[in-house]
Amino acid sequence: MNPAQTTSAAPQPIFLKDYLPPAFLVEQVYLNFLLHPTQTRVTSRLDFKRNPARKEVDLPLVLEGQELKLISIKLNDKSLTPQDYQLADQQLTLTSLPDTFTLEVDVEIDPLNNTALEGLYQSSGNFCTQCEAEGFRRITFYPDRPDVLARFTTRIEADKNLYPVLLSNGNLVEQGDLEKGKHFALWQDPFPKPAYLFALVAGNLHPIKDTFTSCSGREVALELWVEKQNLHKGEHALRSLKAAMLWDEQTYGREYDLAIYMIVAVDDFNMGAMENKGLNVFNSACVLADPKSETDAAFNRVESVVAHEYFHNWSGNRVTCRDWFQLSLKEGFTVLRDQQFSADMNSSAVERIQQVSRLRTAQFAEDAGPTAHPVRPESYIEINNFYTLTIYEKGAEVVRMLSELLGKATFRKGSDLYFERFDGQAVTVDDFVACMAEVSGLDLSQFMLWYSQAGTPEVTASGEYHAAEKTYTLTLKQQIPATPDQPLKQPMLIPIKMGLVGPAGVDIPMEVNGEFWGAERVIQLKEAEQSFTFYNLEAEPVPSLLRGFSAPIKLNFAYTREQLAFLMTCDSDGFNRWDAGQRLALLALQGLVSQQQAGEKLSLDSSLIQAYSKLLKAPVTDPAILAEMLLLPSEAYIAEQYAEVDIDAIHQAREFARKSLAKELYTDFLRLYQAHTTTQKWSPDAEAIAARRLKNVCLSWLTTTEKTEALQLAQAQFKQADNMTDQLAALTCLVHAQDASVGKEALEAFAKQWSHDALVMDSWFSVQASRPHPDVLASVQTLENHSAFSMKNPNKVRALISVFVNQNRVNFHRKDAAGYQFLANKVIELNQLNPQIAARLVIPLTRYKRMDKVRQGLMKKALERIQQQPLSADLFEIINKALE
Ligand code: TRP
Ligand code: ZN
Repeated sequence: MNPAQTTSAAPQPIFLKDYLPPAFLVEQVYLNFLLHPTQTRVTSRLDFKRNPARKEVDLPLVLEGQELKLISIKLNDKSLTPQDYQLADQQLTLTSLPDTFTLEVDVEIDPLNNTALEGLYQSSGNFCTQCEAEGFRRITFYPDRPDVLARFTTRIEADKNLYPVLLSNGNLVEQGDLEKGKHFALWQDPFPKPAYLFALVAGNLHPIKDTFTSCSGREVALELWVEKQNLHKGEHALRSLKAAMLWDEQTYGREYDLAIYMIVAVDDFNMGAMENKGLNVFNSACVLADPKSETDAAFNRVESVVAHEYFHNWSGNRVTCRDWFQLSLKEGFTVLRDQQFSADMNSSAVERIQQVSRLRTAQFAEDAGPTAHPVRPESYIEINNFYTLTIYEKGAEVVRMLSELLGKATFRKGSDLYFERFDGQAVTVDDFVACMAEVSGLDLSQFMLWYSQAGTPEVTASGEYHAAEKTYTLTLKQQIPATPDQPLKQPMLIPIKMGLVGPAGVDIPMEVNGEFWGAERVIQLKEAEQSFTFYNLEAEPVPSLLRGFSAPIKLNFAYTREQLAFLMTCDSDGFNRWDAGQRLALLALQGLVSQQQAGEKLSLDSSLIQAYSKLLKAPVTDPAILAEMLLLPSEAYIAEQYAEVDIDAIHQAREFARKSLAKELYTDFLRLYQAHTTTQKWSPDAEAIAARRLKNVCLSWLTTTEKTEALQLAQAQFKQADNMTDQLAALTCLVHAQDASVGKEALEAFAKQWSHDALVMDSWFSVQASRPHPDVLASVQTLENHSAFSMKNPNKVRALISVFVNQNRVNFHRKDAAGYQFLANKVIELNQLNPQIAARLVIPLTRYKRMDKVRQGLMKKALERIQQQPLSADLFEIINKALE
């Protein structure tokens, strides 16, 4: 069976403007599963009624179905013959139907050979499901769209020895033993839900149990189901879950609604996790964590993904999406909620810095490439291609702007109204924003452009100081670049939080046209160009703009190096202190890029060295922020600054800056490294995490020099580490040393120590795939044959292939095109196995337009070779957008 839907007819787009309510509604769903690896029988009994919202007479019933073997159909208990229905194009159509009826359909499916990991599939011998967005149609024929909400009852029958645990949504109402070593379980979900929230899990799993008492005093059973060898890795997820449940009660007034909340960890999963009602299914990388085998970053990811899926219970499940064009309604809002939660649990400044870094590198690149789309797209071919950084991260920024515009208390009123008014319904982005407009009295019509216009707005600001008049005029111009299908844009409402920093390093209260603004203000840029004149300024201020990254835009201001160094220490906004450092580093790095391109001898801007020196020598007040400030902008982010990207020059420039700074400031890095090295046992508190982070950032700087002493420090840390954060950081420093023999021994020791642990082996693959050496592609290709690697496991593909392609830019973009050919081969292979993953993997190849002419040609050639294949809808859409 080939899971890729390889049709000869080109897949067609569907459009938001064509939305129509469903012809029929489903009142009840009864599912019966007879589980078998290759021949699972699914019987569904569906109670239908005509939808009063559709006035046309005699509308047919159209059910979706994919990869299903139809066994039988009964209408009101009468068997139908093939003359009574049409089965074509993955749809089952029935005509001449009464207003209410029951349909019983029997199908057979093949979970074992389902490598697409959509619908019902097997992972490590256990059964699990993934139904978002359109996976339920691979389980049975159904109106598989989010605006059809129904009550589900699910009966599961399976071999008791092989599959002792049988789970589905809602409450367990009955279970028992059957003949021939079988048993069954009956689950009932009292909440009407769309099919994408259906879940079933069956297998040999073990529970870690806990409870949570909700604000109204109800006791909720919490169960985390894992494979036996992972029982020691569950504590952190449960702690995070309880914290998230409490936080959502306190922050959004949201209480959990069932008596049980289950999470299952599976190894083979396309995304991070899935919010199925009462039964979340998680990628094990996003739920399992033990300090010995997982890093602090992994702990942080578990905390945020567990919270994210939990928060969906309201923003997504109780109030769901009318159609998939509204995806950001649940994802943008839920990402904002999980970001707010993480900010409250950890250092909020560090969380913000990390969110913005990701947005500015990855989402901005998406917005600038061939797959750019608005937060609410107008059309799609394959919805799986729209689970993007734009829908998630930019979508979260859009809701964040709303919360800033309304203020915290009013925003909460708006969200309360939204949850109350639309509970149990499938709604739109407009419904959400209308609640915010209603409670605030604001006119949000211009704001809606954030949902409809793709592309990253660029604001260019300039300031003019008039000493005689003591005025400062700030002029802001906005421009939104053309994106596919959207050549012309309208000016948007851009909230820019700002202050004016005076010569003494403190914010000066702002006075504009007789209005007193205070030290900080959110100005609303609404026109293409707007000016603001500030009065009574004794000296020229330095503007601090876009504080806290108040809008997802690029903000240009021609800061001098002195002004940036000044803001780096004096800005009252922690985010902008960090950003000033990034801007200063960018200036220096761009200077080096120019030198490299002109064939000049490289020399690093002394202002960057001085700024770093100052940072390193100052007393450490916040080690977590300091660690962030000591990181240079990534190659990807440097590349974002150019219309035409010079991959090699950027790499050379950054390497040179790294080596120069490391050499110049070696003793400072060493002192900081030592000061933050403890002999104390691992601890999960914020202080210990920050210390590890700072120490490991310093270790990376130290080993950049390739000094024997530094490499020995890394060797020692590798051997002595009692936790994965320190062990992996040291391993990375060793493996990334220029001399490949330096890391050889540690690499082997690591593989031996961790060969039993799939998640740790992911890191082992990634460390090697990101090694900045010309021979890295050869080692990636060797590692593909390693026994721990599998093309069928998305985590492995990401760890080895995606890391090479995305985090090893010079080597992926080799001039001999070997990187492109390699990726094309992998994409073609994955097109057959797992179209979702194939379509994600190919993205870097589609971003050829900003490369030099030679690379453009080579990348296009690789894309055209993929295009020759019979393609899944997923790849078809991406490749065609890229080659348009
Ligand atoms: N709703 C999920 C989330 O964001 C996303 C998701 C999980 C998903 N698995 C998927 C989307 C598979 C598409 C396909 O939490
Ligand atoms: Zn989500």
